[in-house]
Amino acid sequence: MVLQCLAPMLGGFQPHHPARDVKYHMKITMIGTGYVGLVSGACFADFGHDVVCVDKDAGKIAAIESGRMPIYEPGLDQLVGSNAAAGRLTFTTDVAAGVKGADAIFIAVGTPSRRGDGHADLSYVYAAAREIVEALDAPAVIVTKSTVPVGTGDEVERIARELRPDLDIQVVSNPEFLREGAAIGDFKRPDRVVVGTTGSERAIAVMSQIYRPLSLNQAPLMFTGRRTAELIKYAANAFLATKITFINEMADLCEAVGAQVQDVARGIGLDNRIGSKFLHAGPGYGGSCFPKDTLALVKTGQDYDTPVRIVETVVQVNDLRKRAMGRKIVKALGGDARGRTVALLGLTFKPNTDDMRDAPSIAIVQALEDAGAKVVAYDPEGMAVAAPMMPGVTMVGDAYEAAQGADALVLVTEWDIFRALDLKRLAASMAQKVLVDLRNIYPAAEAAEAGFALTRVGSQVA
Ligand code: UGA
Repeated sequence: MVLQCLAPMLGGFQPHHPARDVKYHMKITMIGTGYVGLVSGACFADFGHDVVCVDKDAGKIAAIESGRMPIYEPGLDQLVGSNAAAGRLTFTTDVAAGVKGADAIFIAVGTPSRRGDGHADLSYVYAAAREIVEALDAPAVIVTKSTVPVGTGDEVERIARELRPDLDIQVVSNPEFLREGAAIGDFKRPDRVVVGTTGSERAIAVMSQIYRPLSLNQAPLMFTGRRTAELIKYAANAFLATKITFINEMADLCEAVGAQVQDVARGIGLDNRIGSKFLHAGPGYGGSCFPKDTLALVKTGQDYDTPVRIVETVVQVNDLRKRAMGRKIVKALGGDARGRTVALLGLTFKPNTDDMRDAPSIAIVQALEDAGAKVVAYDPEGMAVAAPMMPGVTMVGDAYEAAQGADALVLVTEWDIFRALDLKRLAASMAQKVLVDLRNIYPAAEAAEAGFALTRVGSQVA
């Protein structure tokens, strides 16, 4: 037990034995049914815990209960359905009812970039904290799962102390590292679970029990200080964004000097110290996390008078890159896009999601329209979300329809369905046989055989 108390201060790994008074089966409340909340809630229920998911949006709750998921995530509907049917996963709009008797209440609400200054908007987190604390009827652990800047846990704790000095409420940071599109697998087989506490034995014991099923998968449960845990999340996302941005700049250099970025990535990635993941050059990172979190980390650095200059540069380089992809397409068209039709394959920021937040396609469409092109697009899941964001774009039913009469075909997002297209059939229906492959899916030989003039990322194609 001494080890458990010291470990958070020491910031190291430690075994997770329960305190004597802690039960094995946990009652968990999840506030927020967005990506992180719904996936985490369903996975905790699948481990056998009792989970109540709370969301203010009655329409959303009703939809989930009737089997319609608010997000597109492979396998989520089955996971929610089976656990709801087994009675382990329930839903409510009522925070007070949701937190009753809970061992742990997770806050998994959104932390969007605050308009204008890039700081994370924490108003939803603090509002949730207030509601939870006011509704509590017994000691509990409040766990922040939303990505929140350093010090947010301190503020939640202050709120708890102020509103309920009568109750022992522990505040823990437990950042989530799942990726959209692979969320269930990532949650159930994580590389690590990070739990930040202020040393409370009860909080450590409760969190150990909640994650005990994962220790069977050998996932290290890492206890650390609360501020450290908050920073780990940002540091991880910023590092990954940096890795992507690094290889994207190498790709530009490869194009200039006549080298091959995929070979450069492989050549450096085989060094275990570097690792081969997140070295795919492309149109720049997007999504709901990297753009927002890198910006928030930059702001934190500025606030503490300790600028994180590498991350500042990553943010700038990535923003410029998305627009540069538009120019790359115009160049592939011979330098003039006026009156030309460009067909985009894929609009979402990555495959297996309908998420359009900060997707490179948005800047690409803007650049093409500014250059006078007409844009046609197909995306397997993202068109409903994308359509209002890009009103000038004509959405069509599949890749072949998109290519009909187009002057250029651009692969923007690497959905599986785009990986083995019949290039000859596509080329035959186009006005000009121009293929811009922003994800380096198609080998030069295959494109050439179909008659395409191919432009890739990070290599010169003759
Ligand atoms: C990211 C992290 O990978 C998760 O670990 C983290 O939990 C999540 O943010 C979060 O903070 O919630 P996600 O945004 O879902 O997950 O997507 P990623 O798979 O990381 O992709 C992000 C962007 O990077 C995409 O636009 C993708 O196309 C791009 N990317 C990724 C590359 O351009 N090259 C790569 O090699 C990898």
